[in-house]
Amino acid sequence: MPVLTITPSGKTIEAVEGSTLLDALLAAGEKITTNCGGEAKCGDCHIFVLDGRKSISKMSKLENEKLDTLVGVGSKSRLACQAHFGPENVTVEVLNFV
Ligand code: FES
Repeated sequence: MPVLTITPSGKTIEAVEGSTLLDALLAAGEKITTNCGGEAKCGDCHIFVLDGRKSISKMSKLENEKLDTLVGVGSKSRLACQAHFGPENVTVEVLNFV
């Protein structure tokens, strides 16, 4: 089972391979708005993946196109609703504080 480590809160949570990073973040109690319901349309779930990037699912065209419209995007950016866990542990930085 992959473990998700969340910064800056320092929380960790066990995740299910194949589930989304967003599911794990919400299960850990992170306050992330999801105005599009996980459809890669709002950009609210923009996070930085600091570690374990190679293990999570590849970026889709839809996700890439949405990220192109957001401010502050970098090489570690992902939409948590679109990124699925592989077998490895993942560390993320949550950017969207509500
Ligand atoms: S929840 Fe809207 S883009 Fe991820």
